[in-house]
Amino acid sequence: MGKLLLILSILALSLGKYIQIFNDNFENLSNWVAEDLPGVNTGSNEWEYYTSRSVNVYTTGNSLVLHAQAENYQGYNYTSGKVHSAQQWGPYGFFNIKALVPKGNGLWPAIWMLPNGAQNVYGTWAACGEIDIMETICTNNQAYSTLHFGGPWPANTQYPWPPGNQYPFGINWSQPHYFGVEWQANFMTFWFDASIVDGVVQGTQIFTVPSSQWYSQNANGQRYSGNAPFNVPTNIIMNVAIGGNWACSISGCCNNVAVPTSMIVYNVQIWE
Ligand SMILES: *[C@@H]1O[C@H](CO)[C@@H](O)[C@H](O)[C@H]1NC(C)=O
Ligand SMILES: *[C@@H]1O[C@H](CO)[C@@H](O)[C@H](O)[C@H]1NC(C)=O
Ligand SMILES: *[C@@H]1O[C@H](CO)[C@@H](O)[C@H](O)[C@H]1NC(C)=O
Repeated sequence: MGKLLLILSILALSLGKYIQIFNDNFENLSNWVAEDLPGVNTGSNEWEYYTSRSVNVYTTGNSLVLHAQAENYQGYNYTSGKVHSAQQWGPYGFFNIKALVPKGNGLWPAIWMLPNGAQNVYGTWAACGEIDIMETICTNNQAYSTLHFGGPWPANTQYPWPPGNQYPFGINWSQPHYFGVEWQANFMTFWFDASIVDGVVQGTQIFTVPSSQWYSQNANGQRYSGNAPFNVPTNIIMNVAIGGNWACSISGCCNNVAVPTSMIVYNVQIWE
């Protein structure tokens, strides 16, 4: 069986087709680490305290639930759930995540990628790179995909800038959807409700970013060569933020926060 899989893998790779290397339907949390993190340490002035308690992060046997609620906890008014993958993945591949994403005032759910401790061989954020597969805020039906890169803060930058990072269509958030990124050495393509058919990504392409658009530099402004920073492994992260700089910059968004609520993640797939 191992030998057959190996032969099939080599055959598929030689044809440039994707092979599945990870498929989690959340029977348990063994592939994920639930974080304990106060909003003050998120870098975005978030209003929640992320806890690893089973009230905020749990599995149902076929899904992961990240539950946000109003609660007095360590000086905070809300608690919520945030997980990162137990191991780093990539570089490169097709990462596809199926989730039912909550919408409402004060909510900022996200599916994204960032290296361990927001730091890697290239340095701290955003020299280390950040891939935002899907973010959405407040009550509208928009979603956003963005790359963050550049130098260590405050020399960070991003691509695309609004409104270029917004999906060109609204989403029915009452249904679960697949949110994906095809991460390759020379491009990054974001996908909506995509799947792999015969080793090839098929679905709705949001947009493609060529590697010529991104870079990484050290604190002295010297650029790293090649396609840095998106050429090293990174974590997958999923969370439901409450408040925070972005959401609360929208008029009225952070009034009457829509809790309790949950993001339900059904499936995480990685293809190489
Ligand atoms: C977790 O679930 C996986 C299947 O996804 C299974 O192979 C593994 O044994 C489980 N681990 C524990 C600790 O139950
Ligand atoms: C909790 O709510 C109170 C009352 O609105 C506010 O003063 C306080 O700053 C909030 N705490 C946090 C950590 O956001
Ligand atoms: C959105 O999805 C829900 C749940 O499947 C469905 O009941 C509703 O009709 C959909 N709305 C639109 C506008 O398609």
